[in-house]
Order: sequence, then structure tokens, then C-alpha cells
Amino acid sequence: MISKTVVFQYASPKFKVLFKRKRYKLAFGGRGGAKSHSFARAILEIGARRKTRVVCGRETQSSIKESIKYLFDLIIAEYGLGAQYTSTNDYILNNITGTYITFIGLQDHNSQQVKGLESVDIFFGDEANQFSEKTLEFLIPTIRKPKSELWFSWNPEYPMDAIETLRELPENKAYKIDIGWEDNRFLSQEALDEKDWAEQKDYDKFLHVWGGHYRPDGDDKLISLKSVMTSQARIPEILNVPVFAGLDPARYGTDSAALVIRKGNQILHIEEWDKCSVPELAGAMGNFIIKYKIECMAVDIGNLSGVFDLLMDIKHPQTYINPELCRIIEFNAGGKSPDTHYKNKRAYVWDRMRKWIEESGVLPKNQRLLRELIQQEKFLNEQSQLQLLSKPMMKKKKIPSPNIADGASFTFDPAMEPPDKPEPQRAMGRSRVWAG
Ligand SMILES: Nc1ncnc2c1ncn2[C@@H]1O[C@H](COP(=O)(O)OP(=O)(O)O)[C@@H](O)[C@H]1O
Ligand SMILES: [Mg+2]
Repeated sequence: MISKTVVFQYASPKFKVLFKRKRYKLAFGGRGGAKSHSFARAILEIGARRKTRVVCGRETQSSIKESIKYLFDLIIAEYGLGAQYTSTNDYILNNITGTYITFIGLQDHNSQQVKGLESVDIFFGDEANQFSEKTLEFLIPTIRKPKSELWFSWNPEYPMDAIETLRELPENKAYKIDIGWEDNRFLSQEALDEKDWAEQKDYDKFLHVWGGHYRPDGDDKLISLKSVMTSQARIPEILNVPVFAGLDPARYGTDSAALVIRKGNQILHIEEWDKCSVPELAGAMGNFIIKYKIECMAVDIGNLSGVFDLLMDIKHPQTYINPELCRIIEFNAGGKSPDTHYKNKRAYVWDRMRKWIEESGVLPKNQRLLRELIQQEKFLNEQSQLQLLSKPMMKKKKIPSPNIADGASFTFDPAMEPPDKPEPQRAMGRSRVWAG
């Protein structure tokens, strides 16, 4: 077959560096900067010159439809290159050079999909703001073939996102392409009109979506980005206060379980379990209780996972926790709030956590927790009570379930405080005032 050489046109000369050698190629900026289109074109072009193994990855990908494969297919069709390529459900193959492009989700590091990353020449992560710390820590050392490259493009969302740390890479390691719609000479009139409309409608939002600025705080959020950033920068004080823990067991085994251990202003530890059986989870608590001297642990019972029952069950010595060592209390998110200004217990403890973040708390550099905190939406209901957006609603809006932040919020349940010690006998039932 005769290879039809195509030299693609690029929306901006800034993308020329994609053809030069460096370990990292990073493109970041607002919508319409031609990031996705240019990366896909450059991959096809490089792959048409020499055999290249390419993997395009997302944080999660439940079906190929969620991948960026459509864009490669679109470009191949647009330039009439169909005969040169084999495009199946899972991959794109350049029939002449043998360049092979596949599409995977990375979140499950043990899945079949992520096998064979060692042979990759170019890894391309679009929408890379979605990548978790865990995923990047696994991915970067795995792409280790000599001269292999990591390409990432994203619209900045939160300054604490894991991908943002790559912007600090030294110049000799990374090409950093800061790009926006202004750079794109192929942006359609329709897109430009949309941009103008967005600019008039909500300028702060426009600066984020189109301008490449971080996402602004909204009135609908319970905890502000600013307070989270300030909290992270505080120096922790060592206080003589009890250690509390919150355990959010996995819901029906679908999402992950989280344990958060807090001592006063400090989060001492965060532990997550991706897939873990109920007895396994309950059985793991003993060691944490001893190691961190946990005085009280609140366990969410809303999901009926049975972890709470196991921790209390004297008949199960592997999981039963001696109440003298650590009090185990049940946390019922839908239960009554101690203060009628809140719809339920969940809203109440989250708002206490908000105050803690604003006033004294020191948050750790855990990207998942920080994101979960600033993504929690709130509103005032008809009774003027503070209410949090429900989990099903959050799911609808594609906001991930806040497992770690929920675990942390349980430690703000007033029921965690030590039970009232019997009051010393006072004369005449009045408190005595000591003079002098
Ligand atoms: N090389 C190109 N040729 C033609 N059109 C392009 C090219 N690059 C980008 N575009 C146009 O610009 C639009 C925005 O590009 P896209 O890659 O989606 O931007 P981003 O990923 O930065 O948001 C695309 O929808 C496409 O219409
Ligand atoms: Mg894009």
C-alpha cells in the first residue's frame, strides 16, 4: 500500500514543540485552545512516520465511548485516510507503520487494561485534571521505555489537582504550552459566539471555562477554596486533646471506604479501601485504634454495611472492639441535628467541619479530600435550614461521592466528645467560686 503523507495544519505554532524531544508535553488553558485536536493530530502524524505505541488514558473509562478515540476517527475520516488505518472497537492501527493506539481507564491499577504500559512510546492523557495523585504516581514510573513521552492536556480546575504539580517541572524536562481560544486560528464562528455569550453571562465562570483560570468559588458551595488553601498552609499545633476517627464504609461495595483520624487541629491519618469486605474492614480497625490511640470512632450506619454491628459484636472477637479501649458510636447522616438550623446530622457536622477549616484546622495535602471538601454543594431549604446536596443528586451532577470528607465530618459529631464525667458534689447545688 502506498502511504499517503499528510501534513496536518495546526491551530497554533505553539504546538510545534510536540515534534521535539522532551519527556513531558503539557498543554493547559481554557476551552477552544485546540489542545485535544492538536495532540491527536500530532500523534497520528508521528505515528505515520514511524511505528509508535500510543496509549490514551483517562482516570475512569467504563466504555470506549468515553475515550478520545472518536477524535482520532474524526480526523482520519476528515483527511480521507481511512484506507491507511484499521479502527476497531478498541484500537486504531496504522496499517503501514504499525503504529498502534489504545484507550484505557487508569483508576484500577490492577485491571487488564493497564497491563503492558512498559512498551508505550507516548502516553496521552486528555482532561488530565481528573487524574488522581495515586494514578499519576503509578503511571509516570510505568511509562519507562527509553525515549518514552508523557503528554497531558487539561483545562485547569483546582490548584490542588495532582496534575498541577507538573507545571513546576524544569524546562529541560517539559514543554509547557499555555494556550487559549485566542491562539486557535481555526475556532469556528459558533464557538466564538458561544464564548462571547459566556463572557456576558457570568464573567467569573467565563474566566474559568474559557480563560483557563481555576474554578471560582460559587455561592452554592459550603466550603470555599480560599479557606481550604489557608488551612493547608497553617502550622499544626500539638494539643493535648482526644483522638477521634470517622469510618465511612463502602456503599453496597461500590465506592471506596475511608477512615479519617483527627486530633484537634490535625488530621493524623487517612486510609482508603477500594474493595474490601465488611469483616475485613471491621477487622482492620483494631490496629488503627491502638496505633493512634483513638478514643472514639463514629461509623456510618446509613449504608447498612454491618461494619458497626461487627465492631460491637462481642461474639466476633476478631472484630469486636473493647469499649474501654475506644468508644464506637453510630453515625446516622439522616438523623436529627442538635441544632434546628440544619436539615440533618450530616449538614450539621459538615458545617462544623467548615468552621474548623476556616478557624484552626490544618488540612493535609490529600487531593481527593481537598476536592471533596470544595465540591460539596449546599442550599437553604423551605424551612431555612442548611441542607447539603444529596448523594443521588451529586451523582447526577457527576460529582464524586465524598468518602474521605464524609469520614472526616463524622469526627465533628458532638457525640464524640467524652461522655460527661460525673460532676463533683457541689454544696447547695451551686458552683463554688474560689476567691483569691
Ligand atoms: N488543526 C485543526 N484544524 C481544524 N480545526 C481545528 C484544529 N484544531 C482545532 N480545531 C477546532 O478548534 C476547536 C477547539 O479545539 P479543541 O481541541 O477541542 O480545544 P480544547 O481541547 O483546547 O478545548 C475544535 O472543535 C475544532 O473545531
Ligand atoms: Mg479538549
